[in-house]
Amino acid sequence: MQRNLILLGAPGAGKGTQAQRLAARFGIPQISTGDMLRAARREGTPLGKKAESFMNAGQLVPDEVVVGLVEERLGKDDAKLGFILDGFPRTIPQAQALDTVLKKLGRDPLRVIDVQVPEATLLERLGGRLSCPKCGATYHVRLNPPKQAGICDACGGALVTRADDQPEAISQRLREYHDKTAPLVDYYRKAGLERAVDGVGDLEVVLGRIIEALASGA
Ligand code: AP5
Ligand code: MG
Ligand code: ZN
Repeated sequence: MQRNLILLGAPGAGKGTQAQRLAARFGIPQISTGDMLRAARREGTPLGKKAESFMNAGQLVPDEVVVGLVEERLGKDDAKLGFILDGFPRTIPQAQALDTVLKKLGRDPLRVIDVQVPEATLLERLGGRLSCPKCGATYHVRLNPPKQAGICDACGGALVTRADDQPEAISQRLREYHDKTAPLVDYYRKAGLERAVDGVGDLEVVLGRIIEALASGA
C-alpha cells in the first residue's frame, strides 16, 4: 500500500517536525519544498536565485517554480511506495497540478492531515526556532532545545535561525497562509481526503494523533 501523505498547516504548525518523524517511521521520503528551495538558494542555482527574494520576504514563490521541483522529485524511485509532502501544495493551482502529476504516475489517492495550531502558539514557536541546514531537523530554544546549544543532535551540524523567522517575514507568511493555503483545507475536505489533527501538545503526542488519524481512514 502506498502512503501518499500531505501535511497541511500554518507556518510553525510543526509540519517539518512531524514529517521527519513520519518519514523515519514509515520509511518513505519527506518532500519539503521549503527545504528544497533553501538548498537551491544556498547552492546559488538559477532557481535558488529566483526564489530568494520571495522567501526572505515571506511570500510564496511562483507556482510554476515549485510545481516543477515536486514533479521531478515524485518521479524518483524512493517515492514509489509513498511520500510525505511538507509545505506543498500551498495554493489551489498547486493542488490541481499535483492531482494531475499523481494521475500521470498512476498513484493511489492522497491522505491529507491538517495540523491545527492557534496563532499565539505559532508565533511562540517561530520566534525561537533553530534549524539545521544540513539535515533539516528543527529545534526550539525553549520548547525543544538541542542537547548541546547550537549543535544538531541528529548530524552535528551548526544550527541557524532561518532568514524568514523575523517578525516582518513571519507576519507576511501568516497572511499568505490565510489568503492562499487555508482554502486547500476545504478543497481536500470536499474530496473526502482531509483529517484535522490538534497540533498543540508534546511532539510525540501530536505524532500519535497523526498516526491514529491515518489509521482510522480518511
Ligand atoms: P516552509 O519552509 O515550508 O515554511 P513555512 O510554511 O513557513 O513553515 P515552517 O517551516 O515555518 O513551519 P513548520 O510547520 O514546518 O514548523 P516546524 O516543524 O519547523 O517555506 C518557506 C518559504 O519557502 C515560503 O515562505 C515560500 O517562500 C517558499 N515555499 C515553500 N514551499 C512553497 C510552495 N509550495 N509554494 C510557494 N512557495 C513555497 O516547527 C516550528 C517550531 O515549533 C520549531 O522550533 C519546532 O521545534 C517547534 N515545534 C513543533 N512542534 C512542536 C510541538 N508539538 N510543541 C512544541 N514545539 C513544537
Ligand atoms: Mg517547515
Ligand atoms: Zn542536522
